This record gives sequence, structure tokens and C-alpha cells, in this order.
Amino acid sequence: MNKLQELQALHKDWEKKCECRLKKTATRAVFGHGSAEADIVFIGEAPGKKEDETGIPFVGSAGKFLDEMLSAIKLKREDIYITNIVKYRPPNNRDPLPEEKSACRDWLLDELKLIKPKLIIFLGRHAMSNFFPEEKISKVHGKLLTKKFIDIPTRHFFPLYHPAMALYKGSMRKVLIADFKKIPKILEKIGKDTV
Ligand code: URA
Repeated sequence: MNKLQELQALHKDWEKKCECRLKKTATRAVFGHGSAEADIVFIGEAPGKKEDETGIPFVGSAGKFLDEMLSAIKLKREDIYITNIVKYRPPNNRDPLPEEKSACRDWLLDELKLIKPKLIIFLGRHAMSNFFPEEKISKVHGKLLTKKFIDIPTRHFFPLYHPAMALYKGSMRKVLIADFKKIPKILEKIGKDTV
């Protein structure tokens, strides 16, 4: 099995065993998407309506904005991997509850252990607080965080505002675009052999 096949098998396995109660109301699980060999993994919050319909993360308006920012730094979806902390859509797009986050947590950790990215980018405070509960996104957005966790192989984390939040808020939008443009330099700084 190659890495992509392993990743697909991982998702199929978790789809069966995940005990998240959002399974009852969501149309389907939205698996992570993109390259299994990616250096960068983006982590969002939870699928919205469009994602629930298609089974693909970030395909709604926030996703279109994300694609624009990726293309500004010459990256395509196929170059990265993108996933969510919660794999099922919460009803009416409400915030995921702590028990829903923890029901999907090991699924996410298994994705990260398999892909072993050099850099993990959090899209929004929910994704960040899963790993850095003590930090505030307003304080650490656009800053490289380095920490060794026992259960994931990546040491470098880059928190950003969530594109859905920033999309309609002029000031936040500018900040997110500026933070996003730091990604190539951050990758350069981390170097090739840090994992
Ligand atoms: N917002 C998210 O956090 N994830 C998605 O997949 C879509 C929108």
C-alpha cells in the first residue's frame, strides 16, 4: 500500500469506528483531502453545508477564499493536505462541542502521524485550541509556535484566523492575507530536516 492508500484506509476505518454523535445528523463524514506527502497540513474546524453535501473540506465560500490565498503563494490544493478537527457537520453550522471534538481527536492525530507534515497550520481558534488551549488566536495568529507533543511527529505550528471569519470582516481579512503570505518564509525557516 502506498501512503495515499494507507490514508484512504485510515479514513474508512475511522468512519466505521468514530463515535461522534454528529454522525446522526450529518449527511456524511468529510475526510481530509489533498496530498498524503504534503509538507503542510491545514486544520479547520468542522464541515459546513457545502462540505456536508460534497464530502470535501473547504469547498464553500471560505474554501474559495482559502484557494485564492493559496494561489497567491503559488500553492495548489494538490500540494497540501486539508482536514478538520471534527469530521461531521454540526447542525446549523454551530460551533463543535467539546465532546464532539474529542470524539474525532484520535482520527485527526492518526492523519497527522501518517502524513508527518513539517508544518501544521490552524485555521481558527477551534483548531488551535485543540493543541494549544492556553493560547489566544488574537495574540498568536501569524506567529510560529514550536512545541514537542508526544502523540504527533510535527513540532511547528502556525495559527491563522479562520477564513470564514475573516471573509466578511475587512480588518481581519487584511491580517489573514498578510499572515498567509508569511508561509513560504516560515517553511524556509523550518528547513528540510526538522521532522
Ligand atoms: N470551515 C471549516 O472549518 N471547515 C470546512 O471544511 C469548511 C468550512
